Amino acid sequence: MDVKDKIIVVTGAASGIGVALVKRFYAAGAKHIVSVDINLDGAKATAAEFGGTAMQADVSKEDDIKAVIDKTESEIGPIDLFCSNAGIGAGRDLASSNDEWTLSWDVNVMSHVYAARHLAPKMVERGGGYFLNTASAAGLLNQIGSVAYGVTKHAAVGFGEWLALTYKHQGIGVSILCPQAVRTAMTDNASASTQAAATDGMMEPDELAEAVMEGLANNTFCILPHKEVLGYMRRKTDDYDRWIGGMNKLHRSLTGE
Ligand SMILES: NC(=O)c1ccc[n+]([C@@H]2O[C@H](COP(=O)([O-])OP(=O)(O)OC[C@H]3O[C@@H](n4cnc5c(N)ncnc54)[C@H](O)[C@@H]3O)[C@@H](O)[C@H]2O)c1
Repeated sequence: MDVKDKIIVVTGAASGIGVALVKRFYAAGAKHIVSVDINLDGAKATAAEFGGTAMQADVSKEDDIKAVIDKTESEIGPIDLFCSNAGIGAGRDLASSNDEWTLSWDVNVMSHVYAARHLAPKMVERGGGYFLNTASAAGLLNQIGSVAYGVTKHAAVGFGEWLALTYKHQGIGVSILCPQAVRTAMTDNASASTQAAATDGMMEPDELAEAVMEGLANNTFCILPHKEVLGYMRRKTDDYDRWIGGMNKLHRSLTGE
C-alpha cells in the first residue's frame, strides 16, 4: 500500500505511535487522515498539526467504531487504510481484576474485530482495502510483568492472521505491527514490563513510523521495527522449553521474584 492520496483512519491518534503515524502519512501525501481517540482534545491537536479531521471514539465500543467508519465514508470518502492502533497496558499479574482483563480484551482485541466487521465487507465490495493492526512484540513473545497485555496482544496477532488468510484473495491487505519498546506515554515508567520491552533499547516513534511505511509499501504481514524480534521468534519455535527457561530467568532478574 502506498499511502499517497489515500483516506486513512488512525485510532489512538492523540498520543505516541498514533501521532507518529498520522505525521508520517501526512508527509507522504495522504488525501485525508481521520485522527480518532477517546481523548478528543488530543485527537484535535493531532489533526490541527497534520491536517484532516478529529473524531472522538472509545474503540472498545462497537457503536463508536461503526460511527467513525460511517461518518468517514459518508462525509469524506471510502476508507483505504484503517489503523487500529489504540491500545492499553493493564493487568499486571494474577491479582489483576476481571475489569482489567475485560478492558484489555475490548481495547486490544475487539476494537480490531469491530473495525474489520464493519469495514471489510465494504472494502471487498469496492475491490480492496488495508488494515494495519497495532499488536506488539508482546503478541509474539509474551510480556514479562503484564499478563493481560501479553495475552490480549497474542489474540490481536491471531485475529490479524485470521483476517489476512481469510480475505487475501479479495484484495484486503493486513499488517500487524509488532514493536518492542517505543518511547511513548505507555513506556514512560520504570516497570518490569517496560524494562523487559526495552531490552534492545527504546525506539523513537518517528523511527517506528519509517518501519511502518516500509512494511506497508511491501505489504508485509508482520512488521517488526525491532529486527531482533525475528531471532527471538525463531529461538522460541526452535526450542520452546529453553525459551520459557530464558524468559523465566529474565522475569526473575527484572522483578526480583
Ligand atoms: N510504546 C510501546 O513500547 C509499544 C510497544 C508495542 C506496542 N505498542 C502498542 O502501540 C499502540 C499505541 O501505544 P502508544 O505506545 O502510542 O501508547 P500511548 O499511551 O502513547 O497512546 C495510546 C493512545 O490510545 C488512546 N486510547 C486508549 N484507550 C482508548 C480507547 N478505549 N478508545 C480510543 N482511544 C484509546 C489513548 O488516549 C492514547 O492517545 C498500542 O496498541 C500499544 O499496545 C506500544
